[in-house]
Amino acid sequence: MSKFLPPLASSRLSVAPMMDVTDRYFRTFIRLLSRRCLLYTEMIVDNTIAHAHKEGRLGKYLDFDPFEKPLIAQLGGSDKKSLFEAAKILEDYGYDGINLNVGCPSDRVQTGSFGACLMKEPALVADCLVSIQSAVSLPVSVKHRIGVDEFDSEEYLHKFVQILSDAGVRHFIVHARKAWLKGLSPSENRKIPPLRRDVVHRLKQAFPHLFIETNGEIKSLTTAIQELQLVDGVMIGRAAQDNPWLFSQVDPLIFGQPAPFESRLDVLPHLQEICLKLLSSGKRQHQILRHILGLFHAEPGAKVFRRFITEECHKTPNSPDILIRSLELITAEYRRIANTIQQSSEISEV
Ligand SMILES: Cc1cc2nc3c(=O)[nH]c(=O)nc-3n(C[C@H](O)[C@H](O)[C@H](O)COP(=O)(O)O)c2cc1C
Repeated sequence: MSKFLPPLASSRLSVAPMMDVTDRYFRTFIRLLSRRCLLYTEMIVDNTIAHAHKEGRLGKYLDFDPFEKPLIAQLGGSDKKSLFEAAKILEDYGYDGINLNVGCPSDRVQTGSFGACLMKEPALVADCLVSIQSAVSLPVSVKHRIGVDEFDSEEYLHKFVQILSDAGVRHFIVHARKAWLKGLSPSENRKIPPLRRDVVHRLKQAFPHLFIETNGEIKSLTTAIQELQLVDGVMIGRAAQDNPWLFSQVDPLIFGQPAPFESRLDVLPHLQEICLKLLSSGKRQHQILRHILGLFHAEPGAKVFRRFITEECHKTPNSPDILIRSLELITAEYRRIANTIQQSSEISEV
């Protein structure tokens, strides 16, 4: 049996890998809000790494800022030799761990190359994970569904986990809904099959020695804390994009550390610094600004902020003061709403 390393302590709460979302700029933004949570890259296909390596273009796919750490690279693939090579490159690049994607129902899954379809081949998944672990001295984990197509009984899920566990795997991230590979799009596969957190709870009961992390529609830290009574870790996906400020309370509530910021407004000057660096290195500040639209989620001025940033990125993409102007705008909006509340309470007192 291979020697799999234990998960990092920060696996207690992580941000899910999301294609076109969890790029280095999104990760930097979330890292500003929580210094302790675990971050994941978007899925990177093993062949992409191999080609980029040959062509000397690895940076395009793998570069990150050390500030983002701890950071796990998520791999897609099903060929143990090319996963081995890719894992070695990822370790050399400085990633803190490697995760294998066995949950993504993308179109390329139809070719049988990676993702959720691999749940039908547990022995192959075990071989791939053993191969990755033999390439690196980093923790290696797997992210999968509770089932796929007709392979969706709890008995099958337990068999799948047992086979991986027998091979030495210790860390399982379980998206608590099955995937339908035929007939549902990837986005429908994140909504339509019912969420079954109870299945993940029972998986933990059946395998108490394994690190079982639950994933799927966790939208508040209250839910995350409840789940942590029943499983070892919680992974948050879309809520990190829709309501990133949620992460400002992760350090105090989950890791017992101080919160980096007291108010959303305090984050803006830090983001401004990042924008200035991007502009001065010839890059587009839109790369980070597109990720911060949800910062004022459910707050006064949320819409005004979102619209202003979107429009300004379009109209004046190189203007160095978009965030400073947005700060003025949002402060004015806060004041306007505070005045309205005060006036209405004065009227009701009269
Ligand atoms: C836009 C988007 C892209 C995603 N890309 C990936 C991916 O690259 N790898 C992966 O394992 N899961 C991917 N997922 C699935 C998420 O990691 C997560 O399992 C799913 O969204 C359920 O969690 P949530 O309800 O908290 O969002 C993606 C999800 C979204 C919304």
